[in-house]
Amino acid sequence: MRDLFTLFAGSGNPELAEAVGREVGVSLGARVIERFPDGETFVRLEQPVRGHQVFILQPTGPPVNDNLVELLSFVDACRRAAAATIIAVVPYFGYARQDKRHGHREPVTASMVAYLLQAVGANHVVTVDLHAAQIEGFFHIPVDCLTAVPTLCEALRPVLPKELIVVSPDEGRVKMATQYAQRLNATVAVLHKRRETATKTRVTHVVGDVRDKACLIIDDMISTGGTIAEAIEALLAAGARPEIVVAATHGPLLESARQKLSQESVRTLLVTDTIAPVIRNWPKLQVVTVAPVIASAIRRLLASESLSNLY
Ligand code: R5P
Repeated sequence: MRDLFTLFAGSGNPELAEAVGREVGVSLGARVIERFPDGETFVRLEQPVRGHQVFILQPTGPPVNDNLVELLSFVDACRRAAAATIIAVVPYFGYARQDKRHGHREPVTASMVAYLLQAVGANHVVTVDLHAAQIEGFFHIPVDCLTAVPTLCEALRPVLPKELIVVSPDEGRVKMATQYAQRLNATVAVLHKRRETATKTRVTHVVGDVRDKACLIIDDMISTGGTIAEAIEALLAAGARPEIVVAATHGPLLESARQKLSQESVRTLLVTDTIAPVIRNWPKLQVVTVAPVIASAIRRLLASESLSNLY
């Protein structure tokens, strides 16, 4: 069975794919990825996959569109090369934030990406901490959504201040905040936000007693850093101690995030390597690997074992 198994890496995060390959004990499949002069993507598998169980590890983080098209091209190539099963391992699932229409005449891009993956031939998707669990419902194939929360909690233990409260930056992250709080034996506060414009929100209420507490703000992702910066402002205004730790599964971390989160009250930021780290040399930032979690999922899928305790 192991002979009929191949793990390919897209260019979204080859370091993570290498690490997963080492954990599973396989070398990455040979492939070529190029760009045509006009920007189109070209992918070629350099080894046969006929009858194989193929895993393609490709997060669709920035550059999101290139990484997405590359993933779709890999799946299409595997299907045309007669792979038996094609498993898209998408540690960060881009376009997930548009999981419903917020206004008239808008797309639901999470549904669109699910449709595209299935249309090109993916048989199964493995991902990590989807923006919203119900995105699974856009698929008609199995979706295993792993979680980085236990991994992040272990990495957080040595850096957490005393008298800690876990803070969800919005209503959508309450379940995740509760999972952190249970593991870290802390309570939860929730911030309520109001959307002021398409790109600007404002925290209107802090639900929970954060006065004189150190805060662990959690989120599924940090992109511009705007959500976390607003949360910090509201927490400090509500009397929280200027001892803030931030943890998020995905770190697209645009340059503005460093500017917004370099303030003194932020002690440490933790993200995982679902997306290849873009910002380096930032002493506050720690990147924790999810390679063991993904490798464990792959091993179990190869052995047809349950993944339920990786959720
Ligand atoms: C929002 O719904 C998400 O869960 C994140 O809070 C948000 O996408 C983070 O983005 P940014 O860092 O740009 O505020």
